[in-house]
Order: sequence, then structure tokens, then C-alpha cells
Amino acid sequence: MAETVKKKVIFSGIQPTGVFTLGNYLGALQNWVKLQDEYRCVYSVVDLHSLTVRQDPKQLRANSLNSLALLLACGIDPEKSVLFLQSHAYTHTELAWVLDCYIPFGELSRMTQFKDKSQRHPENINAGLFNYPALMAADILAYNADLVPVGVDQKQHLELTRNVAARFNGIYGDTFVVPEPYIPKEGGKIMSLADPTKKMSKSDDNPKAFISILDTPETVVKKIKSAVTDSEAEVAYREGKDGVNNLLTIYSVCSGVSIAEAEREFASAGYGDFKLAVAEAVNARLRPVREEYARLIEDKAYLTQCCRQGAERALAISSRILTKVYKKVGLVAK
Ligand code: TRP
Repeated sequence: MAETVKKKVIFSGIQPTGVFTLGNYLGALQNWVKLQDEYRCVYSVVDLHSLTVRQDPKQLRANSLNSLALLLACGIDPEKSVLFLQSHAYTHTELAWVLDCYIPFGELSRMTQFKDKSQRHPENINAGLFNYPALMAADILAYNADLVPVGVDQKQHLELTRNVAARFNGIYGDTFVVPEPYIPKEGGKIMSLADPTKKMSKSDDNPKAFISILDTPETVVKKIKSAVTDSEAEVAYREGKDGVNNLLTIYSVCSGVSIAEAEREFASAGYGDFKLAVAEAVNARLRPVREEYARLIEDKAYLTQCCRQGAERALAISSRILTKVYKKVGLVAK
């Protein structure tokens, strides 16, 4: 049967810097998996973006393949979605260059992530860090993505993407789809276990602050046991109870019950029992992902094949758009 309504295109990317956290999984990846049925999804391990911060080459290579395996283990289906390593599609960097020439210096200078990162790495404020949003815009625009699932920290980059797309369209006529942010209906922001006012991050210096998807069940129990709470001994979701709120969110998302139901369930429980239940829910959720990952990571031939097929499909889409852009700006056809 012919498709009557064209599926909307979703693009998202994740950097291969270390093992993804429970926060990545519950806040983003789990939604990526769900979106596959309703949308035409393109997901990329954005290895080129990682070069903006100094990487150990061996480590980056390993992390990139591991990240791909993790995405597969989480449930990204390489037949349904286009899944690939960013550096395998030359179109991204070529389109980024063109876009760079249509983004005012001032606009890039205003990016808060650039300002933050340059403050954190004063020894390496490189031009790639500055141009990072242009490459991200190219990622998105090269697929005519309609929707981009991003966290709040990336909204400014998406705004810049929208601006450059609209600017280009204004000069050369309709070329790019101007993408919208996609805010997931469920999921939730998972906070650090050590400081629940901060987002859970895989680059946190304190390893107890985050749970990685591949932590062993015992480590998960240990980390959740040591999670910061408060001295009230009351499992309730309330302002000022950031630690407990975070654990309730984790429990709710992992076990599929509402926060209100979880509150009732633990109304008479102490923090010790509550934390054990949270850890159990997390482990139940992560177990199949860990098992699938362990299987996939042994199957290098399959992973290589996924990379190849993903890159081929990514290129088939993005090279058409790149050719159109080159033509519009006046470059001679090959
Ligand atoms: N900058 C994003 C992040 O660090 C990753 C990313 C790169 C991305 N390109 C993208 C996200 C395109 C969405 C769409 O989280």
C-alpha cells in the first residue's frame, strides 16, 4: 500500500565520549527508540563533534564503536532507522563549511555552550569549538529533518540552525526544511546522584554522580544507596526534595508507574528500602540492554556491517541535499 502521509523526519545525534548514562537512556535514547515507529529517524554518533575537545585516538575509536553498539542494544533498529557514524558521511563537513559562510560571527559568539566550554578548557579554545553549531546545523539540515529531539542545553544550537536555514532559504529560495525542536511527552530529566540540582552527566568527575548503562547490578545498588537525599525520611515529590524527587523520577520512568503511585507505594518506607527498590527497578530496566550489548560487542563483523549500511543510507539522502546547495550557491557541478 502506498504511503499516503509522508512520515516526518527526525534527526538526533549523540557524542561518543564514554558510556551513556541512565540519564541519556531515560531522557533521550528511550525516546529515540519509541520514535522509530512514527517517524523516519536518522541517528548519528557524532564523532566529529567530539574532536572539539582533545581525545585519546584509541579511546575515541573504541568509544565510537561501543556507542553504536549501545544504541543498537537500547533498541535502535538499523533497518527502520538510519544509524551511522558522522565521520562516515563527508556531506556533514562539506555542508557545514557552506553554512559557516552564512552564520554571522556574532551569532556564534553568543552561544552559551561555547562560552562555558572555553571557560572550562582555557588551554584549548579552538576554532572547531567555535564552529560546533555550524556542524550541528549541517547534521540536521542535510536530512531535511522536521523535528530534532534535544535537551534544553541544545536549544540555542537548534535556534541557530533554524536561523541559518531560514536565512539561506531567504536568499536562494526554498532549500532547507526549518526544523522544530521535539520535546518528548514522557521521559524526564535525570539529575546527578551526588548533586541533584545538576543534570546527570557522563563527564562528571565524581563517578558516583551518574549511573552508566553498563554498570553492574551491584554498582547500581551501591551508587543509588549513596545518592544524596535529605533528613526528612519522607518519600514524597516536593519542592526542596531534589534528591528524593530525582529517585522518584527514576523509579517512575523505569517501572512505568506514575510519581503519585510511587509516592503511595513508599508512603511508609524508609529511604533505605526505597533506594533498594529504585535500584531494582533500574537494574530490571537495564538488564536486557546490558545483555544485548555484551552479545553485540563480540560481533565486530555485524557492527562493521551496520556502520557501512548506515553510512550508505545517510549519504544517499544527504548527498542530494548537498548537491542542491552547491548548485544554489554557484559551485560548478562535477
Ligand atoms: N550537540 C549535541 C549534544 O552534545 C549532539 C549533536 C550533534 C546533535 N549534532 C546534533 C543533537 C544534531 C541533535 C541534532 O548533545
